[in-house]
Amino acid sequence: MRFLDLIEKKKVGKALSKEEIFFFIKGYTADEIPDYQVSSFLMAIYFQGMNEEETAYLTQAMMESGEIIDLKEIHGIICDKHSTGGVGDKTSLSLLPMVAACGVKIAKMSGRGLGHTGGTLDKVESIKGFQIQLEEERFKKQVNTIGIAIVGQSNSLVPADKKLYALRDVTATVNSLPLIASSIMAKKLASGADKILLDVKFGSGAFMEDAVQAEALAKMMIKIGNHLGKEVNVVISNMNQPLGNAIGNALEVKEAIATLCGEGPKDFEELCIEAGSIMLLQAKVVSSLEQGEETLRKVIEDRTGFKKLQELVEAQGGDVQQILDPQQLPKATSIISLPSIEEGYIKCMHTLELGVLAMKLGAGRSTKEDVIDPAVGIVLRKKVGDYVKEGESLAEIHTNFDLPQDWKDAFYQSYVWSKQKVEKEKLIYKVIRNV
Ligand code: URA
Repeated sequence: MRFLDLIEKKKVGKALSKEEIFFFIKGYTADEIPDYQVSSFLMAIYFQGMNEEETAYLTQAMMESGEIIDLKEIHGIICDKHSTGGVGDKTSLSLLPMVAACGVKIAKMSGRGLGHTGGTLDKVESIKGFQIQLEEERFKKQVNTIGIAIVGQSNSLVPADKKLYALRDVTATVNSLPLIASSIMAKKLASGADKILLDVKFGSGAFMEDAVQAEALAKMMIKIGNHLGKEVNVVISNMNQPLGNAIGNALEVKEAIATLCGEGPKDFEELCIEAGSIMLLQAKVVSSLEQGEETLRKVIEDRTGFKKLQELVEAQGGDVQQILDPQQLPKATSIISLPSIEEGYIKCMHTLELGVLAMKLGAGRSTKEDVIDPAVGIVLRKKVGDYVKEGESLAEIHTNFDLPQDWKDAFYQSYVWSKQKVEKEKLIYKVIRNV
């Protein structure tokens, strides 16, 4: 087989066979096909797309390019959750302990944040001592004993994706539905869970610009799951404003704790309950979504989700005192309140800009080598639909250095105002169940 013939075939929009797709992934992972040919091939995929079967074969080939985690030693149904990324997205920190407290096994492998979106690993690492590298045996034992573990993704998981993603990033081919769907699903399938819940986000702070694109991606990932024998359910959620109020690692841990105690922002709590009910149903812990919702509300009320977070932190060497008293989490040297310079209703927020500001403060990375400052970030005091008077605080900036004026200007420019009343946008646009 010659790779050049595969490029020709995709260039004119023909479907590739399973053998051809496996030839591509094996050859590229083994450095036998050069980047310049793969760049051209990716661009052909970008313009011509891939059908359902091709996308499933691409996912399977990528999944099989490295280690596939075997979680058979874990008793019970193991559920995994993945978000396509957003600003202020601390869902894993609240949702997973809540679901684990109901008896679902959570063996979570997470990634770090890059760019304006945060990563779960960076957030848990703002807790002093929290270990994200666990030996495989210890990882499985912890899931069997306390029902939950959150660790860093193994380097040997889906090596094909690491190479391909880096190349896509520099060849303007990230934004292709079959390439995104196969990249996400290969990692999820290689991580070994029985059931998968995906939170596909759309809006100004997300990968997918609108709900239509998000739904197309969601359906593609469900079909990949069907081809490869895994149940995948999806929540499509709105990222046209940050999730909850806090953006930044320790600040988000604090908000996740408040949510587990019933004192968090209502939009964030709603997402945890809706997504959590689906996970409980997937794991057959409840027999309806309503029962799931009721169960999770109780887990917040009696604080068993909060206790599960404490167990998780303790098991992974973290400082439980910081969970019991979040004031002990890392704190920035100054908190600067930014007052509104407008009066009216907030019509929308450029979430991406707020994510970028948090990143510049040190809450995220612009390159893989950047070091995170766990203490810094933004706490929103007003959100879309709120009426704000001039001079009222819009947000607090937690920072370890003086804010340059152009950063403040960028903050103000990320708000769009209306004199007319603005309806609050729905956070959950749609749930797509695959049962
Ligand atoms: N997240 C991934 O893991 N892969 C993509 O291609 C896009 C988002």
